[in-house]
Amino acid sequence: MSKLCIIAAIGNNLEIGYKNQLLCHLPKDLKRFKAITSGYTVLMGDRTWESLPVKPLPNRRNIVITLNKLANYQGCELVFSIEEALQLVQNEPEAFVIGGATIYRLMMQYADELYITRILADFEADAFFPEIKMEEWQLTEEIFDVKDEKNIYDIVYQRYVRIR
Ligand SMILES: NC(=O)c1ccc[n+]([C@@H]2O[C@H](COP(=O)([O-])OP(=O)(O)OC[C@H]3O[C@@H](n4cnc5c(N)ncnc54)[C@H](OP(=O)(O)O)[C@@H]3O)[C@@H](O)[C@H]2O)c1
Repeated sequence: MSKLCIIAAIGNNLEIGYKNQLLCHLPKDLKRFKAITSGYTVLMGDRTWESLPVKPLPNRRNIVITLNKLANYQGCELVFSIEEALQLVQNEPEAFVIGGATIYRLMMQYADELYITRILADFEADAFFPEIKMEEWQLTEEIFDVKDEKNIYDIVYQRYVRIR
């Protein structure tokens, strides 16, 4: 595989979710997520799959990672380890890890790029993104976007590339 990317929306304190839901509804960020990932493969944990309002995510190859050998989901490919997930995408030009906390933590070491949406707010959360160690990642892009009536938080879109 040429590129494994992680994409996530993160609060001020690395929050990513609460009660198996996203932190907030940000139509602009969902649109951006769709634009970036459409046409590619998305990899996600079992709980993130469960949380999707529409499954599978359309126009994307959906791969779901679980330890549950009895899982039987429609519209996705199931794998039972991180290694198996990586193997399935090894011939893809690009693939996106889309969450959640457990899968981000396990896959961070394999990622080449991070697409991070910083939501400039504090949230109640029970799921967190791993620390982005600045000695491992170079910030290559940063775009500020101010809140509006539909997107009630200021946002910064960031892109990081692994330092080799
Ligand atoms: N802000 C964002 O960008 C964003 C994006 C995605 C998700 N989220 C949020 O993240 C939260 C969910 O995160 P989460 O950590 O609870 O769930 P998750 O990472 O989506 O999925 C965890 C599941 O992965 C499976 N798993 C764990 N370790 C494994 C391994 N070594 N090999 C194979 N499978 C393994 C297990 O499934 P089984 O239990 O079935 O075995 C585990 O329950 C939600 O609040 C969601 O809304 C936020």
